[in-house]
Amino acid sequence: MSSPPSTIYLVTGANRGLGTLVASILASHSDAFVYAAVRDPLKATSLEELSKKYPERISVVKWVAADAAENAELANVIKEKHGRVDTVIANAAVVRISNTVLQTTASDFEEHFTVNVLGTVILFQALHDLLKASASPRFIPISTGGASLSRKTIELPINIAAYGSSKAALNYVTRKIHFENEWLIAFPLAPGVVTTDAFHEAVAKDESGIFKRLLGQSPHNPPEEAAKLLVDLIDKATRETSGGEFINIDGSKLSW
Ligand SMILES: NC(=O)c1ccc[n+]([C@@H]2O[C@H](COP(=O)([O-])OP(=O)(O)OC[C@H]3O[C@@H](n4cnc5c(N)ncnc54)[C@H](OP(=O)(O)O)[C@@H]3O)[C@@H](O)[C@H]2O)c1
Repeated sequence: MSSPPSTIYLVTGANRGLGTLVASILASHSDAFVYAAVRDPLKATSLEELSKKYPERISVVKWVAADAAENAELANVIKEKHGRVDTVIANAAVVRISNTVLQTTASDFEEHFTVNVLGTVILFQALHDLLKASASPRFIPISTGGASLSRKTIELPINIAAYGSSKAALNYVTRKIHFENEWLIAFPLAPGVVTTDAFHEAVAKDESGIFKRLLGQSPHNPPEEAAKLLVDLIDKATRETSGGEFINIDGSKLSW
């Protein structure tokens, strides 16, 4: 009989992109158990192979951002099976190039804020008691350097008013969670440029050509390598080194 897992992870947005890669790395660790949270488990074909390879270490679960009842149900499932969650990686997001502030629709803002901010808040609220039951709890929302108010990117004509502002709000909420919960390791983590399908779509839609230029200029890791770096960083993070800070994929602190 296998011994109980030492770390229980939950990764949201595990259906594609970075989320799938992170879930794959975690499931390959013999002492881990991963809840891979997706909108529709029956359609999560990207996780089928992984589930067959590591049936003891992964569970593909239903999770819809900002749906309080779904979040509570997921918390119950985890409570029944493990009684705790150790590391939550809040990765799911709406990632879309939209427009200038003037031209972005209210519904575009609403969708980004509902999923990227409220989705993470409700997730934290639903999992609070399960995190509290962990000996080493971590709550790590995935942010973006593009959310910084002081770095150069905000000056560029990249049309990410809705996305960037929602991630800036996510940063605030995460830093606030850090100060309100001294037992927890929580910080927003920026993965840098990761050439997922979503990123390629954004580049294709960006009429300004700036994304393409940034891609050429900024050093970035292949997606698998980026996922590995993120997992290492999350696993090693402490409240003292990273808690409440805006952490970049290379471990450095970003300015807010
Ligand atoms: N790629 C980059 O260069 C980059 C750079 C900076 C930050 N990031 C951040 O890294 C994270 C992952 O990025 P990615 O490139 O992997 O994005 P992605 O490929 O677009 O994946 C986003 C994930 O979020 C899920 N999602 C979206 N809306 C949801 C909802 N309402 N309920 C539940 N799940 C929902 C999607 O589910 P479905 O598959 O069902 O649609 C998908 O699995 C995001 O937080 C993003 O902001 C990425």
